[in-house]
Amino acid sequence: MRKKITFLGSGNVGSTAAMRLAELDLADIVLVGGVHEGMSAGKALDMDEASPLEKHHSRISGYTNRYTDTEGSDIIVISAGVARRPGMSRDDLLFTNRDIVHSLVKKVVPGSPDAILILVTNPLDAMCHVALEASGFPRNRVIGMAGVLDSARFATFISRELNVSVENVCAFVLGGHGDTMVPLPRYTCVAGIPVTELLGQERLDAIMERTRNGGSEIVSLLKVGSAYYAPACAVKEMCEAILKDKKKIMPCSAYLTGEYGIRDLFVGVPVKLGSDGIEDIIEVSLTGEEHEALERSAESVRTLVRIIRGMDGKKPDSPAGSGPRPRAQTRVKRIRDEVIGQGTCIPK
Ligand SMILES: NC(=O)c1ccc[n+]([C@@H]2O[C@H](COP(=O)([O-])OP(=O)(O)OC[C@H]3O[C@@H](n4cnc5c(N)ncnc54)[C@H](O)[C@@H]3O)[C@@H](O)[C@H]2O)c1
Repeated sequence: MRKKITFLGSGNVGSTAAMRLAELDLADIVLVGGVHEGMSAGKALDMDEASPLEKHHSRISGYTNRYTDTEGSDIIVISAGVARRPGMSRDDLLFTNRDIVHSLVKKVVPGSPDAILILVTNPLDAMCHVALEASGFPRNRVIGMAGVLDSARFATFISRELNVSVENVCAFVLGGHGDTMVPLPRYTCVAGIPVTELLGQERLDAIMERTRNGGSEIVSLLKVGSAYYAPACAVKEMCEAILKDKKKIMPCSAYLTGEYGIRDLFVGVPVKLGSDGIEDIIEVSLTGEEHEALERSAESVRTLVRIIRGMDGKKPDSPAGSGPRPRAQTRVKRIRDEVIGQGTCIPK
């Protein structure tokens, strides 16, 4: 039987990833969502009509607000939500996207109780918490896409700097998806050679800074919307690793239960992806400084999770939209001001 991947959100990331996955001929594709009636159906039909040219056999269908065809999905990719606009941080998206992710997960999970959820919607790590709790799935089946994209950006910048093939670069990024992410040059290699042997600290610092701001750089160029080509490729890589049971080690947002000294929190770490989703979490040794950076990154995720949970005194699986939004926004600002006042790093 053919596998099935559902995309909740058929915007830029969802539809681009759907097309790339259809071309792999690994699964049928269902697109759900769209800003107006017919958007997902139209995109799906357009993609389907490319199948004789791309020579794949994936069936692609699309719906605005119907979930019956998502039943029996092997993977559900969630990229529904509001994308960032210039000057808007990922965290500003917190409440709108929380409600969207929560309600979509509740709609699809009964029909696909064995699916693996891949979250894309920002703020990523916090949305993983919403999906984990709304789905009731075990932690191996709720995965956040961020590190694959962040490490691809890191690898791109290194390869351009050294004028070597991107295939030579194996880049390593830890931490939450935000400006506190932790690129790790010590574990980053170029054809097996540690990048620290090839680039001086000053250049490496500049590349790491550009990697941390990779999303914002594209947002400020696009003016409308945010990056989607590379994010869609990252989603494709993860789905392929799962569907082909590759057991591939990739940096993903995973729910930690003590790994890296972090408990009950989604943070980006290297994981082994296979048919069971996250089949292992790989712990590497960190220097004191690297560990502090990871802990700072984790703290910014923790803050968002606390805010989500505190906004209406309930956990994130409270009914979507139950919290009074204006009051909640004020509360975010107050909590953020408090945290910044304590010197904790919050992603902007
Ligand atoms: N994790 C990452 O690394 C990463 C990378 C890129 C984008 N993102 C995030 O992914 C999300 C999507 O980005 P995009 O560029 O595709 O945005 P987009 O605006 O092109 O698409 C978002 C889609 O969500 C749909 N949507 C909104 N509310 C919905 C609802 N209630 N039900 C169903 N669908 C709904 C919209 O109709 C739209 O089609 C954003 O939150 C963005 O910040 C994350």
